[in-house]
Amino acid sequence: MGKAYGFGVIGAGMIGAFHAEAIKQLPNAKLVAVCDQASGLADQFGQRCGCAGMSDLEAFLARKDIDVVTVATPSGTHADIAIAAARHGKHCITEKPIDIRLGKIDAAIEAHAKAGTCMGGIFNGRFLPTARLLKKAVEEGRFGRMTFGLAYGPWWRDQEYYDKGGWRGTWKLDGGGAFMNQGIHTVDLLQWLMGPVKSVKANAATLAHERIEVEDTAAAVLEFASGALGVMACTTSMWPGHFRTVEISGTAGTAAMADQNFFFWQFREERPQDQEIREKYLQFPAVSVGAANPSAGMTADGHRDNFASFLAALDAGKSPEIDGPEARKAVAIILAIYESARTGKPVEP
Ligand SMILES: NC(=O)c1ccc[n+]([C@@H]2O[C@H](COP(=O)([O-])OP(=O)(O)OC[C@H]3O[C@@H](n4cnc5c(N)ncnc54)[C@H](O)[C@@H]3O)[C@@H](O)[C@H]2O)c1
Repeated sequence: MGKAYGFGVIGAGMIGAFHAEAIKQLPNAKLVAVCDQASGLADQFGQRCGCAGMSDLEAFLARKDIDVVTVATPSGTHADIAIAAARHGKHCITEKPIDIRLGKIDAAIEAHAKAGTCMGGIFNGRFLPTARLLKKAVEEGRFGRMTFGLAYGPWWRDQEYYDKGGWRGTWKLDGGGAFMNQGIHTVDLLQWLMGPVKSVKANAATLAHERIEVEDTAAAVLEFASGALGVMACTTSMWPGHFRTVEISGTAGTAAMADQNFFFWQFREERPQDQEIREKYLQFPAVSVGAANPSAGMTADGHRDNFASFLAALDAGKSPEIDGPEARKAVAIILAIYESARTGKPVEP
């Protein structure tokens, strides 16, 4: 095993708790402190996790026992915090979206490059065993010519969800709605599997909520650089919400995920492991608890594997799988969707 890393979590809210649990599960990581601007929350979180609770970010970043910080604050604060971390020589793993503005993301990437520290993003969905199998099938060319990709997140969030966190549903801190907050995992999976997006044409609307500035319903038609076409639709307006779908198709195969399982896995050239994959993962979920509640049914496994892959890259002196430029891609696609919905024109991400 390589070096043991001291971790600090910034943001003691809903997802910060999953960061602490993920760090606890890693043999080469130790949580030493949490920082939240709400000092009461930081203290409670620190007591619960057996680490220091702090509310002063500069003092937290100055700690010598922290090597890596994870950022679990509202989305519009991510890049500024990542830049502050670089200034203090800390490696930084930032929640999705890595930030909501491309210029800020680029500044954070540059700050870490200058400091010689490593900056990574979080897309825990990529670490699902089924997502890994799908990526391997793409890399092996099992789909033939890739022709179509579908990403569909038909979710529900009630008004209370938006009212509770003052930052949610705002352009300034959430950076968008059903796409930028909830749908970004699905967008990232689709672009990771299908390759770069060349253009998007989109519509967006706010149909089921009051007191939010952003979209709760949006759909986009995509053209990939490969020539393949695709469709993405994400909502928080479809009660009760059901499973997320990512479907990849080509001239020689189709595979489709329903949440963390598959509901279709078939290739012209069947291999012995295909039957095993179907037996293990083929399920058509009748209920999808996470579709209406951000933390229901969620485990820390994806974050743990995301952090483990970041630390393995640090040990090897390499850039992590989800580095700054990689985490930026889904944000660029979503911002292009918003611009297309505003202008009615196709937009290149
Ligand atoms: N990867 C996932 O599956 C996943 C799931 C949910 C949320 N998220 C992301 O995690 C982030 C946080 O979401 P959440 O639901 O946990 O929010 P939350 O409101 O529950 O928690 C955010 C916390 O950050 C604190 N905070 C705000 N600004 C701060 C600052 N400048 N310095 C220190 N602390 C600060 C707040 O006091 C709050 O306690 C968002 O970017 C969201 O998109 C990711």
